[in-house]
Amino acid sequence: MSKVSFGLEGKTILVTGASRGIGRSIAEAFRDAGANVYGTGTRTESIQWMQDGGVQGRVLNVQEFEAGKELIQEIVKQHGSLDCLVNNAGVSSNTPASGFKEDEVNKIMDTNFKALFFLCQAYYKAQRKQGGNIINVASVLGMVATMLASVYCGTKGAVLQLTRALALEWAGSNFRVNAICPGFIDTDMTAGIKAKDNLMQQMNAQIPMKRMGNPQDLAGAALFLASDLSGYMTGQSMVIDGGYTIH
Ligand SMILES: NC(=O)c1ccc[n+]([C@@H]2O[C@H](COP(=O)([O-])OP(=O)(O)OC[C@H]3O[C@@H](n4cnc5c(N)ncnc54)[C@H](OP(=O)(O)O)[C@@H]3O)[C@@H](O)[C@H]2O)c1
Repeated sequence: MSKVSFGLEGKTILVTGASRGIGRSIAEAFRDAGANVYGTGTRTESIQWMQDGGVQGRVLNVQEFEAGKELIQEIVKQHGSLDCLVNNAGVSSNTPASGFKEDEVNKIMDTNFKALFFLCQAYYKAQRKQGGNIINVASVLGMVATMLASVYCGTKGAVLQLTRALALEWAGSNFRVNAICPGFIDTDMTAGIKAKDNLMQQMNAQIPMKRMGNPQDLAGAALFLASDLSGYMTGQSMVIDGGYTIH
């Protein structure tokens, strides 16, 4: 039996949307665990921290599907293998379902779902022979609904179902595909909730642990899913939400 190891030393990992929030925290945790980490952001300024932060920064707009594919190919060419792909980049909106314009729907769908799919596809094609490990950052809003987030909820539900379908289709090629479902996490994405005392109180009242999560609360799940310790796990999602979805 081969040795099971939590260690990520020497593994090469790509985290999309690592400029801030959850993606940055996950990228830093992988770096601290000894992995060789690539992180992306949409602008040169947003990946600035990575230069001195021990992470290889790349500018990538995931909506440019071909650019994502090229980045994966570049990393595989450089290192011989990309051990883990973390699809974290995402956008949300605060729009009533009746008010959505097509552009806004396309942006959310393209970023949260289509880009994630094409990155998975590019990774699979680049590593079909050696296998791989994909972690998709979905959301509890792929499982339960909230107000003013219809399209976002739809994309996150789609990510969860895509995770299962890809896990099934690619298990025979030694690929694992799992998801992380964060609850309400204190990042720029939820700044609008934090800014309003009444919203914050309503939110905390719905969370059994009575607080929003920190980006660091997601790191343990990412380390586990990227490591050999989760080696027999695929097509699953880990919910980290302070108990929000219990009831
Ligand atoms: N915060 C929460 O409560 C929560 C809960 C559940 C799930 N999530 C999910 O967790 C993930 C990270 O969320 P977060 O809260 O950390 O969000 P955030 O602080 O708003 O950060 C979003 C990240 O995605 C990147 N990004 C956005 N659009 C992109 C694009 N077109 N191409 C490439 N990168 C893009 C951003 O890059 P720039 O900095 O360059 O713009 C940034 O790194 C998302 O998938 C989100 O849906 C968040």
